[in-house]
Amino acid sequence: MGMYSDKVMDHFKNPHNVGEIKDADGIGEVGNPVCGDIMKIYIKVKDDKIIDCKFKTFGCGAAIATSSMITEMVKGKDIDEALKISNKAVAEALGGLPPIKMHCSNLAADGLSKAIEDYKQKSKIKK
Ligand code: FES
Repeated sequence: MGMYSDKVMDHFKNPHNVGEIKDADGIGEVGNPVCGDIMKIYIKVKDDKIIDCKFKTFGCGAAIATSSMITEMVKGKDIDEALKISNKAVAEALGGLPPIKMHCSNLAADGLSKAIEDYKQKSKIKK
């Protein structure tokens, strides 16, 4: 061990916000071309603010930890602010990831931007 920071191990062992949101306003699903892992992220939005966020990941420990961290980071943020969260920012919030695991953090960041795009599409249709 010793490859991962304590924070990564924490979020890996006790991931936050695992599951799905039944009446989600946006859903993002992404696959990681490097390893084939997949993740699905759900957001609930009110007045363009993310009020809830959950995820499901079939992926490695780093993917689970970054997904868990990103769900915490976006809550209460407005969607344009949330879109700016990069995979690097998530990795930093976790105290860093080993370089060979950086691709895993793309899953969370890409999934989130897809979910936000999905929300934007849907709200356009409603209006
Ligand atoms: Fe696939 Fe980490 S090894 S997301």
